[in-house]
Amino acid sequence: MQLTIALVATIFASAISAAPAMAPRDNYPTVRVSLYNDQTGHMATASVLSDGMANMLTDLFRGSAIDDNGHIKVTSAQLVQSTQKTRCFFQNYNDIINMSGADNPFVDLDGNPAAALVRDMSGFNLQCSERAGA
Ligand SMILES: *[C@@H]1O[C@H](CO)[C@@H](O)[C@H](O)[C@H]1NC(C)=O
Repeated sequence: MQLTIALVATIFASAISAAPAMAPRDNYPTVRVSLYNDQTGHMATASVLSDGMANMLTDLFRGSAIDDNGHIKVTSAQLVQSTQKTRCFFQNYNDIINMSGADNPFVDLDGNPAAALVRDMSGFNLQCSERAGA
C-alpha cells in the first residue's frame, strides 16, 4: 500500500512536470478592417490578429450592418488600423485582393473605380501578417 501511494505520487509528479509549459502568446498586432457598402451606406469594422491566419468574412462580419442574410455585400474595404508592415489580403481560392498598411490601405472591391458596384464577398477570407524586415 505504501508503495502504491508512492508510485501514484511519482506518476502524478512526473505528469505535472511533463505538462508542456504554457506557450507565451505571441504579440501579434491587431488589425482593424472596415467594409463599406456605398449603395446602402452601411459599413462595419472587424478586428483580426496580424498572425497570418485565415478569417472567414462571414464569421468576422456575422450580424453586422453589412451582413445581408449571411451574405457579405460590399463595395470597398479599408485597413483602419494597421502598422506600416501590415499586409492583408482577401482570398477566395485564386481570387486575391491585396491591401497594405503602408501604401494601399483602401481597395475598391468591384474592380471598377468609377462605379460602386456591390460585390458578394461571402466566399472570401481575410489574412493579415507583418512583413519581415524594414
Ligand atoms: C498580392 O501581393 C503579393 C505579394 O504579397 C503578390 O505576389 C501578388 O502579385 C499580389 N496580387 C495582386 C493581385 O496584386
